Amino acid sequence: MKNSIADFRSDTVTRPSKGMLNAMQKALIGDDVLGDDPTVKYLESMASEIFGMEAGLFCPSGTMTNQIAINVHCNPGEELICSPLSHIYNYEGGGVAFNSGVQIRTAGDKYGRISAEEVESLIQPEIDVHAAQTSLIVVENTSNKGGGTCLGLPLLREISNISKKYGINYHLDGARLFNAMVRDNETPKQYDFFDSISICLSKGLGAPIGSLLLSNKDFIEQGRRVRKRLGGGMRQSGYLAAAGIYALKNNINRLGEDHLLAQKIKDILKELDYIAEIKPVQSNIILFRVIKSINPSDLFNHLQKNGVYIILMDKEWMRIVTHLDISKKHFQMLSESLYSFSSKI
Ligand SMILES: Cc1ncc(COP(=O)(O)O)c(C=O)c1O
Repeated sequence: MKNSIADFRSDTVTRPSKGMLNAMQKALIGDDVLGDDPTVKYLESMASEIFGMEAGLFCPSGTMTNQIAINVHCNPGEELICSPLSHIYNYEGGGVAFNSGVQIRTAGDKYGRISAEEVESLIQPEIDVHAAQTSLIVVENTSNKGGGTCLGLPLLREISNISKKYGINYHLDGARLFNAMVRDNETPKQYDFFDSISICLSKGLGAPIGSLLLSNKDFIEQGRRVRKRLGGGMRQSGYLAAAGIYALKNNINRLGEDHLLAQKIKDILKELDYIAEIKPVQSNIILFRVIKSINPSDLFNHLQKNGVYIILMDKEWMRIVTHLDISKKHFQMLSESLYSFSSKI
């Protein structure tokens, strides 16, 4: 997509910077399926050390890291608990059922939060032969469909206590975990109570591809086998891992800038009389809907005609995402197009 396009569809649309490309080009490589790509090994140990976890597994996507985690944690016929808004439930192609034969039980609010009490109430009694065994709790921080909600460590710890009380594993879909950490002033090691964590390098961190699954050594060894089975074993992936290393070193602290820009965009939306509702903006995602008398597609098309791309999440909700490739000019294009739509209604 040309620079003249203001692309607010997702933080996945970013292009590798010159520095990142340079790091990729210089990467030492091997064959990672044969276990001798030094740059992949370095990334896996760097990320696991950052989180105080024993081991890491580099995968092509966040969908794959989530699916591997579910496959290792659960047996067919078992059940996992998550928010109805979660990515694993809505956007992974039914992979939970297809890949692992696992069913899903959901609860939580419209921001992607689920309380410890709700989780506890959904756990199936172990002695009941009618029930599927609950074997996993999955939370998403930040919650994408919830509007970039940051769940916060106190809530996540309460759920961890429930998972320990019942001996149920606890997985974190942290596709945008660094956004939550920057916003809430948290450190990766504070997340060490999870049994497994997935982080994405290709969202706000600006890498072209790549996610990491973090856990203990035994879990990651099992995960490596599942990755191969899913076709996710990659060969000279050191080139890609180099982008991930660059992203972790250079692109975390600047996420605050994306959050500030998201607040500015929210303030503009608040001024517009054709906007009906904006979900609370906590990180880099702005979810909003227009008043009933307006067709969301009309706003969508108007923005697109002006070179501004956003996403229609469903029939009602629209999404704007800020990221490191958004320039001052792009912001100006967005604000001008939002204001000029007012004159058309
Ligand atoms: C919360 C969340 N989890 C997982 C994923 C999956 O990541 P990928 O697109 O790399 O498969 C996404 C993608 O947007 C996401 O938003």
